[in-house]
Amino acid sequence: MKILVTGGAGYIGSATASELLIAGHQVVVFDNLYQGHRQAVPAGAVFVRGDLARREDIIHLFADHPGIDGIMHFASYTLVGESMQKPLLYLRDNLVNAANLLEVAVGAGVRRFILSSTANLFDDPAKMPIDEYERIVPGSPYGESKFFIERMLHWFGRIYGMRYACLRYFNASGDAPDCGEDHDPETHLIPLILQVALGQREQITLFGDDYPTPDGTCVRDYVHVRDLARAHILAMESLDRLGSRTYNLGNGSGFSVYEVLETARKVTGHPIPHVVGPRRAGDPAILVASSESIRRELGWNPHYPDIESIIQSAWDWHRNHPNGYGA
Ligand SMILES: NC(=O)c1ccc[n+]([C@@H]2O[C@H](COP(=O)([O-])OP(=O)(O)OC[C@H]3O[C@@H](n4cnc5c(N)ncnc54)[C@H](O)[C@@H]3O)[C@@H](O)[C@H]2O)c1
Repeated sequence: MKILVTGGAGYIGSATASELLIAGHQVVVFDNLYQGHRQAVPAGAVFVRGDLARREDIIHLFADHPGIDGIMHFASYTLVGESMQKPLLYLRDNLVNAANLLEVAVGAGVRRFILSSTANLFDDPAKMPIDEYERIVPGSPYGESKFFIERMLHWFGRIYGMRYACLRYFNASGDAPDCGEDHDPETHLIPLILQVALGQREQITLFGDDYPTPDGTCVRDYVHVRDLARAHILAMESLDRLGSRTYNLGNGSGFSVYEVLETARKVTGHPIPHVVGPRRAGDPAILVASSESIRRELGWNPHYPDIESIIQSAWDWHRNHPNGYGA
């Protein structure tokens, strides 16, 4: 298939573009490089620089690259904390950008769409692990924007026959030799910890150690970026057979912040000093996914189920790219 990957110069999009090429698909990456890196786009992919906020960029994209069979939509504002400061960037821009894309895509005859959704839809889960029947309580304008787009897809499905999958990922993590995590600002735990091991920060600040968890720190579900990439491909390839789907996507096991830190100390051989700060507003104590549905229906099976192999893969990339893509 010929797949359009929006945000394919970013962390998860570039890893997915790479997996798509390995699986024998053609890839067109569309990215404005607001966060992404041109060097992250795999060599076999076509790169188009453009902005989803500009409808004319999208119109040119489809005119110049006819025959797109499906879209994987990663391009987005992605920061929970920023969305609490600048809600309209999320509630307006994320939504309008997705609407621009969908409008032009439908006009061009595209009827397959995979959305990067999020675990931030589950701010108040009734049970753990979290399955697809859990009540939706967005934890921020970021989460709300993803839920809006899920609803937009629902109506595009009913009205235009769009087949879609909403993949609600938990914490994307880990790297591959050819693409890694390089955000500015960096907000994710594992790369921040590894910056300490690389001597780029003195210590890591943990947000609270008085949560109702075994060691007092928050427990999260870390899923390797390549496993996410494979889930996208399975979802895309099954749309015609199974129709539209929504899946939660994580490893199904939780690791506390202290467990992540201890594992990183073991992997890197560095003491990685830490301090404990106050809790961060809006952090639930435990977030772990049930990925039973996607395992059962699509045969998805993570290749990196344990935190040590995830951190090892991230360490390998960060050690080789201490300045990220700027190196
Ligand atoms: N990283 C995670 O743990 C995580 C978890 C759940 C969901 N997600 C979602 O997955 C997707 C990818 O996340 P990521 O961590 O790879 O983010 P990222 O910032 O690395 O990648 C997003 C890419 O989209 C591009 N982009 C942003 N706005 C654009 C626009 N208007 N037009 C064109 N390109 C634009 C950026 O330049 C960037 O390359 C996002 O939608 C995010 O919300 C990420």
